[in-house]
Amino acid sequence: MTTSATSTPPLTKGQQDHYILEARGITKSFGGVRAVREVDFCVAPGEIVGLVGPNGSGKSTLLGCLSRDIPADRGTIEFNGEDIGGLRTMQVARRGMGRTFQNVRLFPELTVWENALLGRQWKGVGLGKLLRPPDAATRQRAGDLIDLMEIPHLTHLYAGNISGGQMRLVELVMAMMSSPTLVLLDEATSGVNPTLIESLKHYVKVLNDEENVAFIVVEHNIGFIFSIADRIVVLDDGQQLANGTPHEISENKEVIDAYLGA
Ligand SMILES: Nc1ncnc2c1ncn2[C@@H]1O[C@H](COP(=O)(O)OP(=O)(O)O)[C@@H](O)[C@H]1O
Ligand SMILES: [Mg+2]
Repeated sequence: MTTSATSTPPLTKGQQDHYILEARGITKSFGGVRAVREVDFCVAPGEIVGLVGPNGSGKSTLLGCLSRDIPADRGTIEFNGEDIGGLRTMQVARRGMGRTFQNVRLFPELTVWENALLGRQWKGVGLGKLLRPPDAATRQRAGDLIDLMEIPHLTHLYAGNISGGQMRLVELVMAMMSSPTLVLLDEATSGVNPTLIESLKHYVKVLNDEENVAFIVVEHNIGFIFSIADRIVVLDDGQQLANGTPHEISENKEVIDAYLGA
């Protein structure tokens, strides 16, 4: 059992003996609000880690620190063995970390296809090249992802005219364009209808299986997390309350009292 607040998480998924992401002692305050406090967070290659906790417990802030959207006050972050603590978000993305945000960030006046192609920017494709027609490999990748997520009928619609759930899928396409090894999803099921939530779960699993993409999934939808995660980390008031398999978490009395039983 590794459900105590300070333990190192277990490695899952096969014989891997290293983490792709290894963050230690992450701490971030906003003025007087201590949003994230001394959190260790590690992810093994191809692992799906669920990150749960009440509203305001620090989940989005922690994701932001890991992807370098938010500068942590303290702590170390290694991604694929490299210290990324001093890098900018785009530099981290180029090294293979993709993400989506709690609030959808698409360009509503561009089509789904054009938005998908913009995912290339995370690979370090500059503005000049972004404005030129994409090469065959890029078109193929975008087409494959759009097919996988079963949204080819949306490609020529403006992103502002599709449903909230469909926007989440397009965001996942964008995040996957650069073939990342780790993708951070922040509340990917919010605003998504139940049928599409099942689809989203399926697509995450397919990407995980076929491309060995690791995921950190922040969710309020506990059913979603328990059915998809290899391991679950529970945050409470900026601190790690528990860390274990879905089974261990479901039997952890502290978690049940503080969160699941609520
Ligand atoms: N940019 C910010 N400025 C000030 N306070 C913030 C900011 N972002 C988050 N917080 C505060 O940090 C705490 C954690 O927020 P957040 O990481 O968004 O939690 P969660 O994603 O778990 O709901 C909350 O108290 C929130 O109000
Ligand atoms: Mg949040």
